[in-house]
Amino acid sequence: MVQFTLPRNSKVGKGKHFPVPAGAKTVKTFKVYRYDPETSANPRWDTYEVAVDQCGPMVLDALLHIKNTMDPTLAFRRSCREGVCGSCAMNIGGRNTLACTHAWDEVPGEAVQISPLPHMPVVKDLVPDLTLFFAQYASIEPWLQTDTPTPQTEWGQAPQDRAKLDGLYECILCACCSTSCPSYWWNGDKYLGPAALLQAYRWLVDSRDEATGARLDDLEDPFKLYRCHTIMNCAQVCPKGLNPAKAIAGIKRMLVERVV
Ligand code: SF4
Ligand code: SF4
Ligand code: FES
Repeated sequence: MVQFTLPRNSKVGKGKHFPVPAGAKTVKTFKVYRYDPETSANPRWDTYEVAVDQCGPMVLDALLHIKNTMDPTLAFRRSCREGVCGSCAMNIGGRNTLACTHAWDEVPGEAVQISPLPHMPVVKDLVPDLTLFFAQYASIEPWLQTDTPTPQTEWGQAPQDRAKLDGLYECILCACCSTSCPSYWWNGDKYLGPAALLQAYRWLVDSRDEATGARLDDLEDPFKLYRCHTIMNCAQVCPKGLNPAKAIAGIKRMLVERVV
């Protein structure tokens, strides 16, 4: 039988252990993926015994506590700390989510295990390289395209047309969905993935946009769109409660309806 294994330089080794600080009342163990491309060392799991009575309730609070008081070398992204910017997306306890809205005491198991978003190149520690992800987003041309002269005041939209954007405009481009999608794992260079496709659908159903035909032409491709096999991981993990799989089905429906 064929056996698959990681290349020798990708195997994750046992890392450093940071013991519980003196005076801690409540302790929680965090196991964090570490990788520094500037050394030739393999990635490793570092273990931190964190005095969680001295930090806030979210995983991001604990990571900031680790960085500020135990290990300043730990790298991760964050900005808004309230689920708006999407930058703190990572894999926590085996699930892609936002560190700032996910409580450490909700993570099952003895230790809170944290790694970068899966199947992306790693810049350092918990920081994934999202260059391709954002290039794919740019490729769907996420802006209003119309020949209608821009109105002097606001661009009116009927309430029922505006309602079609609900469940789409809330996307914060955190990449939790795309990096949980098996089709994106295997064909990420050609398949646009659930986040970019949800955004594409957001412009397809905007009553003010006049580039619908060209947008559909661009998406009618065996890889860009049709690699979605409705596995639904995307809808399960979205921290904003959105359903990219439904948006993708909407694009497929629009393509079918225009050729009938
Ligand atoms: S659809 Fe949800 S999971 Fe995907 S990028 Fe947008 S907010 Fe993140
Ligand atoms: S439904 Fe489609 S986009 Fe969502 S995880 Fe499955 S294959 Fe990926
Ligand atoms: S820090 Fe902005 S979403 Fe978490």
